[in-house]
Amino acid sequence: MNVLFVVAEMAPFATSGGLGDATTGIAHALHRLGEQVTVLMPRYQFLEGFGEARPGEGPARSIFHHVEAGIRVLFVDDPDSFDRPGIYGPEPGSAYEDEWRRWGRFCQTAAAVSGQFDIVHLHDAQAAPTALLSSTPTVLTLHNAAYTVSGPLDETVALFDNHPAALEMLEWYGEANYLKAGILAADQVSTVSAGYARQIAEDPEVSSGLNDFIAGLEHPVVGILNGIEVRRFDPRIDESIPVPFGPDDLTGRSAARERLLARTGFDGSGVVFGMVGRMTGQKGLELLDPIIDQLIGSGFRLVAVGNGDEDYLVDGWAARAPGAVWHAPYSEELARLVWAGGDSFLMPSRFEPGGLGNLYAMRYGAPPVVRLTGGLASTVVDASADPALANGFGFEEYSSEAPRDAVERAMAVFRGQPGVWAALQQVGMRADWGWDPAARRYLDLYHDVLARA
Ligand code: GLC
Repeated sequence: MNVLFVVAEMAPFATSGGLGDATTGIAHALHRLGEQVTVLMPRYQFLEGFGEARPGEGPARSIFHHVEAGIRVLFVDDPDSFDRPGIYGPEPGSAYEDEWRRWGRFCQTAAAVSGQFDIVHLHDAQAAPTALLSSTPTVLTLHNAAYTVSGPLDETVALFDNHPAALEMLEWYGEANYLKAGILAADQVSTVSAGYARQIAEDPEVSSGLNDFIAGLEHPVVGILNGIEVRRFDPRIDESIPVPFGPDDLTGRSAARERLLARTGFDGSGVVFGMVGRMTGQKGLELLDPIIDQLIGSGFRLVAVGNGDEDYLVDGWAARAPGAVWHAPYSEELARLVWAGGDSFLMPSRFEPGGLGNLYAMRYGAPPVVRLTGGLASTVVDASADPALANGFGFEEYSSEAPRDAVERAMAVFRGQPGVWAALQQVGMRADWGWDPAARRYLDLYHDVLARA
């Protein structure tokens, strides 16, 4: 099948969080199944070195073609929209004021090339309203329904060619809402875990208030659990860690821990937890704020990697306790070191559509402590469960007490029950977190959609 992905992020070209990793992971897994995948994404300022220019379509001045490990990548050249330093906005967590125009033009380009493909797979709000204009059946995957793109209604409707359904599908409290239009116009909506698929049909807080539309869809939202690229993320061959290690011999972890300590200036006492991702309200940082001092007093150490609009919380902790909390911008090399050298990994997420950090941490032998929501509930099994299945620590309540208790439980096992800890590591490291099952399900979904078209 000839599939077009339309998306704002693809690793390693552009990524702000999990979306870029998911794009690459699904694309490569579909390619391994023998499918042809093309990814259409913007030619951001920092991507000027990639690809060969060919004539543009729609609003694109030109389209730069690039092939990466069998995946064709099309970089849409629209300098007015994308010759800027940020993907979404000038700061992490912010959006450019003309977001509706730049992403609307991007969707127009996607629609202009859509006829060359059997199926068009849209990812998140930036690509979603392509479904209004596409000449090919569409699947929309919601990696995070808490983010939409909004704009002035009349101008946006005009941008979508005054398509007969555009006004009704875009309109949301007098403005245009790209997520709403995509959800209503796509032939099928999916998301990245079964738990989150249920949640977005019920809970206005995690669905940008669109839960009733989602619940009313003729074809219910399908949840397909995310994976990770197990070939690219493998501690046995990872060049960014000092000494390779695997489930049969974990001694290399201590060298990674040493390197992480040198990097952060921590003295090696305590239990080192990692956090990797966007530092936003989604990630549950507010739960940690009231308990962080107490936890640090019991030996909790935190290495936080990534940026977002709640950076100030993490930066505040780091300023108060420099030997116990350390914060740095995202880099893949640092992320790998945190998974490999951290003792544990923390995700007290308020909601989590899929969750990838938990999978990377388990793959690298750092049993995670998570709030059991969305994809985290599908992948993390608490230490109190059957030892053959347990791979970390989980809690359910969205309160500060719950993560405090879970972190303290994890620290107690780490310090006092090395055999139990090693078993958690083994279960997490030996599990198959690869993308292949997800790719097979996406392919089945494409076939279902084509069969009803
Ligand atoms: C978003 C979600 C995350 C998910 C990722 C990839 O970043 O917040 O939960 O894993 O997209 O689908």
